[in-house]
Amino acid sequence: MKNKIGILTSGGDCQGMNACLYYLALICEQSGIELIGINQGYQGLIDKKYQGLKSEELEKVKDTGGTILKSSRCQAMFTSEGQSLVAQNIKDLGLTSLVVLGGDGSAQGAQILQAQFGINTVVIPATIDNDMKDVSLSLGHLSAVDRANTMIGWIEDTARSHDRIFIVEVMGRHSGNIAKALGEKNNFLAVVLPETKVEPELIDQIKSNFTKNQSHVVVITELQPEKIAQLKNGLKDYDLRVNVLGHGQRGGPPTQEESQLAKEYAQKAVTMCQKHQHGVVSK
Ligand code: F6P
Repeated sequence: MKNKIGILTSGGDCQGMNACLYYLALICEQSGIELIGINQGYQGLIDKKYQGLKSEELEKVKDTGGTILKSSRCQAMFTSEGQSLVAQNIKDLGLTSLVVLGGDGSAQGAQILQAQFGINTVVIPATIDNDMKDVSLSLGHLSAVDRANTMIGWIEDTARSHDRIFIVEVMGRHSGNIAKALGEKNNFLAVVLPETKVEPELIDQIKSNFTKNQSHVVVITELQPEKIAQLKNGLKDYDLRVNVLGHGQRGGPPTQEESQLAKEYAQKAVTMCQKHQHGVVSK
């Protein structure tokens, strides 16, 4: 049977998605495989929103952030009616495989389509959080860390100029992987992960970093307001600011390493589709 692959981007967008779409299109063209783009994640399979994908067009956007297919967190995929409709529309499209670029939630959707409806699904890990089960590196993580690291450097400049301490909140939802990676890049950076307790030793470390002019920044994973309050209390004698880095961490061009990863994952995903294998692509 001739291969016909559907591709969608789902969940939080991340850097490297457009690059991966480009490489998928290129590899499919070279292999004589038809590739159908599905808009807005699984929602596009409910609304039947599809588009052709040509490598010549995608080459122009491969180094941009976001996803030209658009993304969503599709609520219908949490219902059995929604899942059946998605499965039916995939069958009507005549897809031999569905490739999903996304994180854990998106992978769960793919797993349901595979297990309950017999649709061959391949997941390319894509989330800045890098928190997927059995995945060592997801698309987006390296670029997001790069972005956050740059912004922290800039915050350090202004913090030092005003003798301030900044608490900088980074993304990651319930995973501290972005904050952890930032700590690994910067020796003196104090890092508060979801599993970190704000103990007196941590406060002393932050004060010492400040006094020795080693670092004026504390990085904290989002969704921990009680720990921000504890830090503020422990550092009440200092001129303190709280900064939320926010969605800028998900944007901008993929780093070079990220583009390479996008190419590697695209190649592996197509190979899996050709062999009619399912699962999550890995390094
Ligand atoms: O999963 C990626 C992520 O950026 C998380 O780090 C963050 O908690 C969440 O998405 C934000 O979601 P939204 O884009 O819906 O605000």
